[in-house]
Amino acid sequence: MFKCIKCLKTYSFDDKIIRCTCGSLLDFEFYAEFPLEKIRKRKPSLWRYEEAIPIENKNSIVTFDEGFTPLLKMKFGRAEIHFKLDYMFPTGSFKDRGSTVLISKIKELGIKGVIEDSSGNAGASIAAYCANAGIECTIYIPEKTSIMKSRQIELYNAKLVEINGSREDTAEAALEASKNVYYASHVFNPFFLHGTKTIAYEIAEQLDWKSPDAVIMPVGNGSLFLGAYIGFRDLLNCGITVKMPKLIAVQAENCSPIYTELKRSQCRVVEKDKKETIAEGIAIRKPVRSKQIIDAIKESKGDCFTVTEREIIDAFKAMSGKGLFIEYTSAVAVAGIDKYMNSIVKRETIITVITGNGLKNSRLESV
Ligand SMILES: Cc1ncc(COP(=O)(O)O)c(C=O)c1O
Ligand SMILES: [Zn+2]
Repeated sequence: MFKCIKCLKTYSFDDKIIRCTCGSLLDFEFYAEFPLEKIRKRKPSLWRYEEAIPIENKNSIVTFDEGFTPLLKMKFGRAEIHFKLDYMFPTGSFKDRGSTVLISKIKELGIKGVIEDSSGNAGASIAAYCANAGIECTIYIPEKTSIMKSRQIELYNAKLVEINGSREDTAEAALEASKNVYYASHVFNPFFLHGTKTIAYEIAEQLDWKSPDAVIMPVGNGSLFLGAYIGFRDLLNCGITVKMPKLIAVQAENCSPIYTELKRSQCRVVEKDKKETIAEGIAIRKPVRSKQIIDAIKESKGDCFTVTEREIIDAFKAMSGKGLFIEYTSAVAVAGIDKYMNSIVKRETIITVITGNGLKNSRLESV
């Protein structure tokens, strides 16, 4: 059952509903388990943590054997960084973590058609998993989305609806359409977060079941960030690890609502003009889950930094120069490494998540 995070009203999982009638977000209760001996013997996919993923019937799992991406230790500037290579997913981004779980749940519920809206990657990912499951799929994207992402969505046989407007206009159009069809939203539907949380399990296992000191991530709507928070909290609650890592959110200076909100609450108001950013995946002006993101930053003793367009491009080039061809959106987290390093005093185990593949970038000619 979905449960409203505010008034606690409950709804069936197959309700075509994305928010409670009181306007608040929906979540559900689930207790993860980690039978380590069994996990160790399973194949290297995120489904090795099946007891921690809320799918009841194994036959409903929709998968490409994804996950368990490499954790690459590499010298970067003055530090050694563990790069979590989530650009190595079947559709080229970490979103597949969320899609494999959400679409499995949708299959389990017997739902035959869905819609989703996205800046591109989540839409491509949902479309691929629907293709795998034989579920009809319509994806709303802003007209300006990178051609590689829109073609990818079409080639997965999804119906593509291109909205002549902003990312917010696109979400608005999808919200309207969701009155009639199930909304497989990576923003509203908590099953998506119960997929992205597997990044925490993998990182911990790859560090011999220890938490790192900090995890640096690009943040738009927070589907990765909140997933990581849930995952590390699960590990902590089950006594698998002993601490919560600092969760570090990085945003483009040109679109930084989380940073603005967080620093405002710390009495440092720094409202910026609205500007475009090359980091299209995180060009989100009003993240629906902003309060939860800020709570997760505070609870984990993390922080939020912003990076300029120049810093994003420099980070992108620095990574390409090391053989890692990544999305500009992912380069945001890489650009955040330096800012984070300036804020700490001792050596730490630092993870930076590489969220998307550089082959999807648009405007490559301009850098
Ligand atoms: C490559 C890439 N990185 C990071 C993100 C950020 O994810 P979220 O908006 O859920 O915070 C996105 C979102 O589309 C993305 O495409
Ligand atoms: Zn409610």
